[in-house]
Amino acid sequence: MVIVVRTVADLRSALRDRRGGRIGLVPTMGALHEGHLSLVRAARRDNDTVVMSIFVNPTQFNEQADLAAYPRTEEADVALAAEAGVDLVFAPDAGEMYPSGFATTVRVTGPVAETLEGAQRGRAHFDGVATVVTKLLLAALPDAAYFGAKDAQQVAVLRRLVADLDVPVELVVCPTSRDDDGLARSSRNARLSPDERARALAIPRALRAVTDAAASGIRESSALRDRALDVLAEGMIALEYVAFVDPDTFEPVARAERPTLVAIAARVGTTRLIDNAVIDGG
Ligand code: PAJ
Repeated sequence: MVIVVRTVADLRSALRDRRGGRIGLVPTMGALHEGHLSLVRAARRDNDTVVMSIFVNPTQFNEQADLAAYPRTEEADVALAAEAGVDLVFAPDAGEMYPSGFATTVRVTGPVAETLEGAQRGRAHFDGVATVVTKLLLAALPDAAYFGAKDAQQVAVLRRLVADLDVPVELVVCPTSRDDDGLARSSRNARLSPDERARALAIPRALRAVTDAAASGIRESSALRDRALDVLAEGMIALEYVAFVDPDTFEPVARAERPTLVAIAARVGTTRLIDNAVIDGG
């Protein structure tokens, strides 16, 4: 039986008796899909108690319309969470997380938080993520917290945060879960028309073209970028960036001679999609 709690106080008292065993936390904004459930399964393997948070965090949205349109499907989410083995769902409302007078922001600085997603979505995005994740970690005090590689920059920001603030938690990064056609799973995919979905497949194909080219010995980021652009052009999608960066610092990489993250963001119709792959060090 999954227990749903809505306050930090109730979460803490529900966890009090479980502290003898390992606790794993899976932070989410709900609208659960197979990608989220893959994190739950990883957490289930490593821990005695699995906590999932479901909170559509208003402070990390740069567009009010995006926040308003974000799917809220709590009943279905709780059922899916229970089925996947979650013991405790923490589903606070915004007033619980940001009571009146709330005045603290946790900000990670430097390229890791300020480039790519940090630039496209604005500073407030990773400020919002860092602040809410800090609050969730302090509320649950888990041994481990689970995040998806799909949001590679979010992972890098949170790694920096946990290292800098000596947060006693292990961050576990789970591989990107993909549909059979290769598209990375995302709650936003539901907004794609069939034609848009077909065009969106240019993104995973471009990533594949890059990793294949790198494996064949092409290591110049500019040459690898051209490969990606050729494939992306077939999808007729509005590209925001194709970037080659260090996976930890997000500093640009000119030659992929050490592990390099290739990150893509694009709009297909009105839907914004991100995806990434790692080129190994060769
Ligand atoms: P959300 O977008 O709901 O994602 C919750 C977690 O699921 C994140 O760690 C994300 O990387 C992971 N995830 C999403 N799609 C995935 C996929 N296809 N494969 C693997 N993992 C996937 O990310 C957030 O929420 C928020 O920013 C949050 C961390 C909860 C803070 O508000």
